Amino acid sequence: MKTAVWHVDVISPDSEVIRKAAKIIKKCGLVAFPTETVYGLGADALNAEAVSALFEAKKRPLDNPPIVHVSKCITVERLAKSIPTKAHTLMEKFWPGPLTLIFKRSPIVPDVTVAGLNTIAIRMPRHNVALALIEESACPIAAPSANLAGRPSPTYASHVLADLDGRIDAVLDAGSTNVGVESTVLDMTSDPPEILRPGGTSYEALVEILGRVKLNPAAVADHALPVEKARSPGIKHKHYSPDAEVIVVEGELEAVVNKIIALAVFYGEEGKRVGVLCSDETIEGYAGIDVLKSLGSRKDSASLARNLFRLLREFDEEDVDVIIAEGVPSEGLGLAVMNRLRRAAGYRIIKV
Ligand code: TXA
Ligand code: MG
Repeated sequence: MKTAVWHVDVISPDSEVIRKAAKIIKKCGLVAFPTETVYGLGADALNAEAVSALFEAKKRPLDNPPIVHVSKCITVERLAKSIPTKAHTLMEKFWPGPLTLIFKRSPIVPDVTVAGLNTIAIRMPRHNVALALIEESACPIAAPSANLAGRPSPTYASHVLADLDGRIDAVLDAGSTNVGVESTVLDMTSDPPEILRPGGTSYEALVEILGRVKLNPAAVADHALPVEKARSPGIKHKHYSPDAEVIVVEGELEAVVNKIIALAVFYGEEGKRVGVLCSDETIEGYAGIDVLKSLGSRKDSASLARNLFRLLREFDEEDVDVIIAEGVPSEGLGLAVMNRLRRAAGYRIIKV
């Protein structure tokens, strides 16, 4: 299969291009498209054949359901069995935006779309291209992140092509995504609502609206948890991994930098090419590191989130064997960044 690449404007997407892409979706095809978080790989959520092809293209385990994307709140009423009052408040406040809500599902949703669960994950993305595509396709669009299963999520169309060129029909290229980590997954079937995956909508912002919000243990774990504790199926699987081995060093900043320098020397002597993922505040403190990259300022968690997946992929392109990453503060989007980093490391975490 040849994958078409179509450039589209972020602000006013070319309607001709959107029409071509929607035509593919309607015919059971697969189109990757930008959202505000990461690129998604879209298929008609109500068509079992299309969604099966989606799993196949991504090599995704069948027990891990995608998120269903809508362009109007009214669609949620068709997809969910019931909508709690709190969910209405959240939709009003945070949609379109990086917040996925879990509802009891309605019978019109094919089993494969929800991996056989009795719940469904739904969100409305804050991106003109995504919204235009959903509108024009005239169906809700199931879209997991547009990477091969286990790889870092794509924040550029080039990342999508690196993983899926030849496996999907088309990519809509609207440049880099803005948020950089995936949406927050919030389970509305439990009370208080529970964060299953931290993401682009912060815990603090949700607490401000809801008062009480639970954090699922797997969302904040610093070690692998038994599978039965993983309420979000995605948590079970290896994820966000570049080819290089990843180690995260957490603790007081000066001690972290010293430990990373010591580890870099150690791996360097073993003949390994070492990459260090640091921050603007610490970058001057490292000398003689093979590949040194800053995530951004530790005070600006949005920038840390925006750069994370791109930098993990860049280390691979520069043939790094070991990536040693500084832990970052878990406020704001830092919680999502730490969740992704720890999982990319397979929970290889050194505390100093
Ligand atoms: O920002 C995002 O959420 C991106 C863009 C493309 O919208 N999408 C994304 O999708 O990250 P995906 O499929 O890579 O991640 C979906 C997450 C997985 O962790 C999955 O286990 C969880 O949502 N999920 C989906 N349906 C669920 C359900 N019914 N109950 C619990 N978790 C669910
Ligand atoms: Mg994903």
